[in-house]
Amino acid sequence: MQNLDQDKYEVIPIYISKSGGWVIGNNKFLTPESYKDLDKLISGTKQLSLLPPKPLPKIDVAFPVFHGPFGEDGTIQGFLEMLNIPYVGSGVLGSSLGMDKVLQKQVFSSHNLPQVKHLWFYRDNLPKSVSLKYPLYVKPANGGSSIGTTKVHSSKELNDALEIAACYDRKIIVEESAEGFNEINISVLGNSGSKLRTSVCEQPVPSKEVLTFSDKYESGSSKSAGMASAKRLIPAPIKPATAAKISDLAKTAFESLDCSGLARVDFLVSPDEKTIYINEINTIPGSLAFYLWQASNIPFPKLLDELIQLALTSHEDKNKTTYTFANNLLANLGETLKGNKLKG
Ligand SMILES: Nc1ncnc2c1ncn2[C@@H]1O[C@H](COP(=O)(O)OP(=O)(O)O)[C@@H](O)[C@H]1O
Ligand SMILES: [Mg+2]
Repeated sequence: MQNLDQDKYEVIPIYISKSGGWVIGNNKFLTPESYKDLDKLISGTKQLSLLPPKPLPKIDVAFPVFHGPFGEDGTIQGFLEMLNIPYVGSGVLGSSLGMDKVLQKQVFSSHNLPQVKHLWFYRDNLPKSVSLKYPLYVKPANGGSSIGTTKVHSSKELNDALEIAACYDRKIIVEESAEGFNEINISVLGNSGSKLRTSVCEQPVPSKEVLTFSDKYESGSSKSAGMASAKRLIPAPIKPATAAKISDLAKTAFESLDCSGLARVDFLVSPDEKTIYINEINTIPGSLAFYLWQASNIPFPKLLDELIQLALTSHEDKNKTTYTFANNLLANLGETLKGNKLKG
């Protein structure tokens, strides 16, 4: 704080105490010596609240059901974390990794999960050509619902596809198409580090080559029925051994990202079922993938009960971790910074 140019910046010290209270500091907070006696430092300061002035009702469990950035990517999860409110589903890390197709692929490959070949780029550094085998899929890294995703059949189409994807994200992924493969999805239920269960598999039936936004959300009799109304085969018409393999891979994927609650893991499977690629994970899948659990003898209300129980267990588990340390590291700050003080 002392080293911020005081002519340029007005520094407002904010201190978070070990008990979790936020206070707005006064001038004393700019002097390292003040930190030797924290109680004295904090006394008489104003409480700070980042929350809206209206108090929240008492919430036992929050149930985030969003798609996309801010809801599915760890942001709202981080907010609930700060409020110490138990919440359903993956935490900050699992959610953000689950949202980022590039980083999840990197974690998956470190767990030897089979994937198509891919490259990724920041949008300010887009390539003119790529050393991958066409056809390719070009996608925004943090997209969803196929928005901004294009199948590219030749190098002539690459540039436009990259630019479309770049409208939706700073990060773009380009991957080889698993030609003629079938999409097979499965849901995982549980908390990483504890027993995980998997549902039956489904095979969504696309109307075109890419499962579109419309296939996912608008194809059923009711436009509001979401993923549950898309055309699909449940259970997927695959061999039991393939389904078992997919179940194992899905559990590994879920645990590798430290997911909690529920996720749907999507695979691409060759017609002879000899090659299985993991495509992506969805930490808040469409319709919570309840239809997969229903087909696995877990009715929707029971699934919700289990998710709420998993949220409470995961919250209890987090609170077992020690986050404070009975030591005032700041007490010696004055010594460390000696000779580094602002004049006046
Ligand atoms: N590498 C690929 N090979 C074959 N089909 C793909 C590939 N990548 C994506 N697809 C098709 O595009 C759709 C959308 O891509 P996906 O990675 O699942 O992104 P989204 O987050 O938009 O669901 C998939 O459901 C599948 O139909
Ligand atoms: Mg998908």
